[in-house]
Amino acid sequence: MKPTGRPPEKAYIRSYGCQMNVYDSERMADLLASEGYEIIDAPGDADLVILNTCHIREKAAEKVYSELGRLRINKERARAEGRNPLIAVAGCVAQAEGEEMIRRAPAVDLVFGPQVYHRLPRLLARARAGEKVIETEFPTEEKFDALPNDRRSVTSTRAATAFLTIQEGCDKFCTFCVVPYTRGAEFSRSPEEILDEAHRLVAAGVSEITLLGQNVNAFHGVDGAGRGHDLPDLLKALAGIDGLARLRYTTSHPRDMTQKLVAAHRDIEILMPYLHLPIQSGADRILDAMNRKHTAAEYLAIMADIRAARPDIAISSDFIVGFPGETDAEFEATLRVVETVGYAQAYSFKYSPRPGTPAADSNEQVPEPVKAERLARLQALLEGQQFAFNRATETAILPVLLDRAGRKDGQLAGRTPYLQAIQVEAPVALLGTIQQVRVTKAGPHSLFGSLADNTVPVKFEARTVQLEGVTS
Ligand code: SAH
Ligand code: SF4
Ligand code: F3S
Repeated sequence: MKPTGRPPEKAYIRSYGCQMNVYDSERMADLLASEGYEIIDAPGDADLVILNTCHIREKAAEKVYSELGRLRINKERARAEGRNPLIAVAGCVAQAEGEEMIRRAPAVDLVFGPQVYHRLPRLLARARAGEKVIETEFPTEEKFDALPNDRRSVTSTRAATAFLTIQEGCDKFCTFCVVPYTRGAEFSRSPEEILDEAHRLVAAGVSEITLLGQNVNAFHGVDGAGRGHDLPDLLKALAGIDGLARLRYTTSHPRDMTQKLVAAHRDIEILMPYLHLPIQSGADRILDAMNRKHTAAEYLAIMADIRAARPDIAISSDFIVGFPGETDAEFEATLRVVETVGYAQAYSFKYSPRPGTPAADSNEQVPEPVKAERLARLQALLEGQQFAFNRATETAILPVLLDRAGRKDGQLAGRTPYLQAIQVEAPVALLGTIQQVRVTKAGPHSLFGSLADNTVPVKFEARTVQLEGVTS
């Protein structure tokens, strides 16, 4: 921290959207802490408020404007007391809307995109001098180079788990999605830099790392010797770090799901048996209109391979219902894929037209009530599958990373290898450790358990993945 005579300025950062935003917010906190800021948990007394925003669906973007409405009132009150807190909007709404944000919310002082927060101290100085600052470039490489390496992860390593961004941006241009516009072109960090960061995290007490990227399995980092490394190479290298107990990665695209990556799920012991692989729709015509560039059958073939490599793997996905032109039969095809795969958990959304994306211009928009009805049916099916998955782990003894305080006194909360949330009767001294836990009760969304001392692995019913009859 820089020595100053005054009390430290206080900064509040709120994160919306994906885990990459969570990671970015943590790095902003590191950067501000190294500039002498105190990071606080509520906006009330803050001298600087940063909203790290998400533009993925209309609802996500609208949340930001309602929060800005509240912050404006806060700011007026602070000004009456002689303070002048700055309001900054970062992330994907900032990138997509730029100066339009300041027009719509004049209380905003700074607008900056996901690739420039390493310039935050300079941007803040300009804003303090009274300028309305807008910065929406894409210098991705510079962003990672310029972050304070030695300070990185200072504020965020109280936890046993950590995110590590290894890849940014996306070149796939699914016709519904804003990410290629808000995060820019695909870029992979260098393997050395990632390994360095992972070593630092482990040294600070982290035992589970989740590698992040909008297209994490498209990772293709180049090392100092000019050699290319793919995600399986990187996982293997990370698995060699002493003290690292668990590895995860998210989010993957079916097109980049190589046999080598499938094999990594068989061969790398600390790679957790969980795969988030979004399919979006089960109908080939819709997948084509979405520009996903794979069929439902190809997705199911990956499911068959990954289950052959790791029979107990928990599968997760994202779904969009009511994409423009989606017929009842095409929606039914999605339900059939869900029935075939059997998901451990999933995210599902009504299609939300995003300005500037091709699908938003389609004149075949599906009426809202139809979308709502389809979403309800899909979610009922997925919820049932999640509950069934949870029940299949009942009575099993599983290693649980106890990473948080529990809901009640005398409980800690954690995650099973299958990423299920679990409440465990355990003393606080075990916080941050991995313990063998007997699952005593399975709920629809989480488990309950108690400490055990021997291991009984789960036996899932073998699921046959059919390759035919799933497309409409
Ligand atoms: N990179 C990831 C997903 C990024 S966005 C991938 O390729 O799978 C996370 C999820 O939000 C997407 O998988 C999709 O299901 C959903 N999503 C994205 N754009 C959307 C839109 N316009 N309307 C509704 N859901 C959307
Ligand atoms: Fe969006 Fe598609 Fe890229 Fe995922 S792969 S981030 S859904 S454009
Ligand atoms: Fe949202 Fe941007 Fe992430 S749009 S999902 S915060 S990449």
